[in-house]
Amino acid sequence: MDELCQTPLVTSDDCDFDLSDDDLRAARTVKWAITPAPQVAAWVAELDVRPCPVVLQAVQDAVSRGSFGYSPFDSLTGLPQATAAFQAARFGWEVDSDLVVGCGDVMSGVGLALDYLCEPGPVIVPVPAYPPMLGILPLSGRSAVPVEFTKSDNAPACLDLDAIDHALGHGARTVLLTAPHNPLGLVFGPEELMALRDVVNHHGARVISDEIHSPLVLAGARHTPYGSLPDTAHHTTTVTAASKAWNIPGLKCAQVIAGNAADAATLRSLPYIANHGTSPLGVAATLAAYRDGGPWLDNVLVHLDRQRTLLDELMATHLAHLPYTRIEATYLVWIDVRPAEVADPVLAARAAGIEVSAGADFGAGFEGFARLNIGTSAERLTRIVAALGSAWR
Ligand SMILES: Cc1ncc(COP(=O)(O)O)c(C=O)c1O
Repeated sequence: MDELCQTPLVTSDDCDFDLSDDDLRAARTVKWAITPAPQVAAWVAELDVRPCPVVLQAVQDAVSRGSFGYSPFDSLTGLPQATAAFQAARFGWEVDSDLVVGCGDVMSGVGLALDYLCEPGPVIVPVPAYPPMLGILPLSGRSAVPVEFTKSDNAPACLDLDAIDHALGHGARTVLLTAPHNPLGLVFGPEELMALRDVVNHHGARVISDEIHSPLVLAGARHTPYGSLPDTAHHTTTVTAASKAWNIPGLKCAQVIAGNAADAATLRSLPYIANHGTSPLGVAATLAAYRDGGPWLDNVLVHLDRQRTLLDELMATHLAHLPYTRIEATYLVWIDVRPAEVADPVLAARAAGIEVSAGADFGAGFEGFARLNIGTSAERLTRIVAALGSAWR
């Protein structure tokens, strides 16, 4: 299996966001493919970036080898070791690679944790939430308990621990954490996470921590893996992937990091059909990303940090009346469009030529919000916010 483990030949670490709308449409992925010209896509979480060269090389090598069959078992791919090494190097979390289980994508990993590791019962979802977090629960036969983030003026939003405590005291058995958070762009600090842990332990409940955005923490913040905290291993399942940071979600490779050996054994004992989703191309891409893609990722983070600053300037110029979150991670910005008093923020944006994500999809009561994707070029972001300025006047 060592051919999957070779170091790719390409060494350029530059990241290139200088792509035309036509270039982006030619990739035929959902963000631009279903956004008809001349509309500009600023919705789903895809980056407008040329592929990371070392990842591209690894995929091209895998294509040349004809790696089009099923992925071999985790013990033969190198994925658990590469995941553990990345977690240790990037976040200081020493993960036992025996606890890493490959899966097709993060949401199928969340589904595995729900179906096979969590007790039946309602699931707490802090809202606004990445929409599939709400959508997956009925598929798992569970109901959602949406819990809004607390928000006070000039302070970042926080997990509402009292509401979570209350819901756990009234039958909820699982907390679905998204850390860093989409769509709020929050990075949770260790104190807040340990306070959550104490509430969860008090009720003997569980946490599924979706950490797909953890490599996308921007300057000034630091990701704390929830499962790295003391006294969490018995109740935590972490799900992560290289797919957001290296922009490869279509290659299908994510990783469940079980909190303990018993949970890992449960996941490994499932019938093959329950979890056969990693693709060999995704495994090859992920190995390259985790092992050799760090310098390229660091350049992406520098670009996104500049985009964050540019957005501040553009918002001050065009949309000074709208509150928005200053992101600590991700490239997704949550905007409160309510002061604009438009009937539908998405339709108003569309009429101005811009596709954004509808706040309504992120939970009940968020109809007046929109999510903006700033993972693009400075030039395109400038065009986008100028157009939104006329839409949301
Ligand atoms: C927080 C979060 N979780 C999960 C996903 C989806 O991941 P996947 O495509 O690997 O299921 C996304 C995609 O944007 C996301 O933002």
